Amino acid sequence: MNRRPRRNRKSEAVRNLVEETTLSTRDLIFPLFLIEGSKKKVEVSSMPGIYRFSIDEMLLEIESCLKLGIQSFDVFPAYPESLKDPFAKESYNPETFYLKGLRAIKKEFPEICLMSDVAMDPYSSDGHDGIVQNGKILNDETLEVLAKMSLAQADAGVDILGPSDMMDGRVGYIREELDSHGFTDVSIMSYTAKYASAFYGPFRDALDSAPKFGDKKTYQMNPANSQEALIEADLDMEEGADFLMVKPALSYLDIIKLLQDNFPLPIAAYNVSGEYSMIKASAEKGWIDGERAMLEVLTSIKRAGAKIILTYFAKEFASLK
Ligand code: PBG
Repeated sequence: MNRRPRRNRKSEAVRNLVEETTLSTRDLIFPLFLIEGSKKKVEVSSMPGIYRFSIDEMLLEIESCLKLGIQSFDVFPAYPESLKDPFAKESYNPETFYLKGLRAIKKEFPEICLMSDVAMDPYSSDGHDGIVQNGKILNDETLEVLAKMSLAQADAGVDILGPSDMMDGRVGYIREELDSHGFTDVSIMSYTAKYASAFYGPFRDALDSAPKFGDKKTYQMNPANSQEALIEADLDMEEGADFLMVKPALSYLDIIKLLQDNFPLPIAAYNVSGEYSMIKASAEKGWIDGERAMLEVLTSIKRAGAKIILTYFAKEFASLK
């Protein structure tokens, strides 16, 4: 044998030399859940180690993350039923706690990259990402709500908007609304290929945002398909998205690779709640080594072609060593 692949694995130093994929805290965006009130830090029961924070507590959390080198955060709101309605009106109420929270975060930490979520579901009494009429999700009517929400979030100072709704045409619609109001510097990270996935379960617990009827299959993508990811990516790029995101990450590594191979925009992947909880639950039972599983998963997402990873593991990863 003159070719022995094991020679390149013979010591840690050699392995480090030939290692192709290196994870860095700088690649990560940490999703955080905001609730109304003060002095509240409540663990999400289906996501061990992940909390819903009131704004004062969230500021402390961000401060501790900054010390660990995390620079980017994606904040999601959890609203009580009493503030929800069919049209998600609370989403652009300037006095609503989410917008006040975003403003407070940006004021205290102007240097961070702050991302927000654009979708109706946290504010919708139907628990859907669009306006519902006779059991159908209306596309074009929803765009108007998304645009109002986007403007309100841009005005609160966010750096990146994350439309996670999967309505057709929303990236272009939002881009135009932002530009015509002077927010030309606000970026859009589009949830480009967002699949109708079972892995969002724990997130919907965290936000109490599960759909009240039906599922999200008329707008989120079919897990069996890859070709339409190319159509979605084409549209998002044309409509002005700055980043393309694939979600979830683990069952869709091929989609990450497909977009990375075909589009020049930075690719992001969302390592979603169920993917996090799956590792946490089996590690708690002693069935797998949680830390190694986390590293393997994050590395595989980056290896597949995602430069950016949204992950609930961000703080745990940043705390290693
Ligand atoms: C909804 C939204 C979801 C997530 C982010 N934004 C869930 C859904 O589509 O029902 C899921 C994130 C996660 O599971 O971690 N706009």
